Amino acid sequence: MRAPVILENCQTAIPDAAIVMDERLLWLGPRADLPGDYAGLVRHDLGGRLVTPALIDCHTHIVHGGNRAGEFAQRLEGVSYEEIARAGGGILSTVRATRAATQAELVAKALPFVDALLAEGVGTIEIKSGYGLEAEAELRMLRAAREIAGLRDVTVKTTYLAAHAVPPEYKGRADAYLDEVCIPTLRVAHAEGLVDAVDAFCEGIAFSSDQVDRLFRAAKALNLPVKLHAEQLSNLHGAALAAGHGALSADHLEWLDEDGVKAMAAAVTVAVLLPGAFYALRETRLPPIDLLRRHGVAMAVATDMNPGTSPLSSLLLAMNMACTLFRLTPAEALDGVTRQAARALGLSDRGELVVGQRADLAVWNCESVAELSYRIGFNPLHQRIIGGVL
Ligand code: NIG
Ligand code: FE
Repeated sequence: MRAPVILENCQTAIPDAAIVMDERLLWLGPRADLPGDYAGLVRHDLGGRLVTPALIDCHTHIVHGGNRAGEFAQRLEGVSYEEIARAGGGILSTVRATRAATQAELVAKALPFVDALLAEGVGTIEIKSGYGLEAEAELRMLRAAREIAGLRDVTVKTTYLAAHAVPPEYKGRADAYLDEVCIPTLRVAHAEGLVDAVDAFCEGIAFSSDQVDRLFRAAKALNLPVKLHAEQLSNLHGAALAAGHGALSADHLEWLDEDGVKAMAAAVTVAVLLPGAFYALRETRLPPIDLLRRHGVAMAVATDMNPGTSPLSSLLLAMNMACTLFRLTPAEALDGVTRQAARALGLSDRGELVVGQRADLAVWNCESVAELSYRIGFNPLHQRIIGGVL
């Protein structure tokens, strides 16, 4: 047990706050109200700085081989993401590079991007598989994700995304891929303790809603929560399907309609907004933010860090983009990378400055919450505190 300490002279929602913590938050309130029993504890003066929960990146593909800078150039010349995918590039080009990489290579490649996130106050990262699309390579990606958690002071939540694309050896036989590879490998990965949630890409270039439904039933049989890449490029009603399965989140959502929003509201499924992919694909169709607000659907924000549609390893920039491109308020953007991101991962022990939560905090050289989303390309982090360690 760590000896409790006091953080004082900081601002939260309270202008002149104090925080008492060990591994958890023990007390939080106006500095003037600090109870006398804490009088003898070591004090750290934060110089009036802003304190928030440590940030949470709840949607990344940060473990992968290779890069797709060539496709970036192609897209600038007018070739679409779907055209590249149908021609065997896109996700499948990253699959080739990922299959060729060892676990050590995957970890070494991911770490600089992980470090970039941590340098911005991130304390929890979700990492998906989905560039292996064969048993060994999917397992290797998930093991790499678990290994990262041991190498850095960060919580990693893994998501099994073997239903990301149909691999070339199963071209035109998506159902066979699901039955012979995707679902059996899920069971193996789960038995090895490698899976915290199950995801899929529900799209014309990937898997149909019936196929996703089948995968989600297999996940349910293993007691694993589900989430879904839904309504990114078209409307296959994936969000409603995910909500019907009680999904933690539905992600992307540019093509989401009001029925989908209502289904998400009823199931308390979080909408994960990914402005980096919107930006990089030069998408013009906005996710239905007003509908989500009107129906009370919680909105999270994440980087979607991946080599194709979102080579973005700054969660602060994702917050800026969520405000500038999607018109979230700066308060919604912060909520989206803390409290709502935690819910999108099924985590109830972090994301809020509330007594009993993990002492995962970010201390900022900022005077207001709005400043976090306002700057572009500047990192105002003063200090990250993980599990109460300064
Ligand atoms: O979240 N939409 C599908 N999956 C990723 C992109 C993967 C890729 O292009 O490599 C996404 O945007
Ligand atoms: Fe994604």
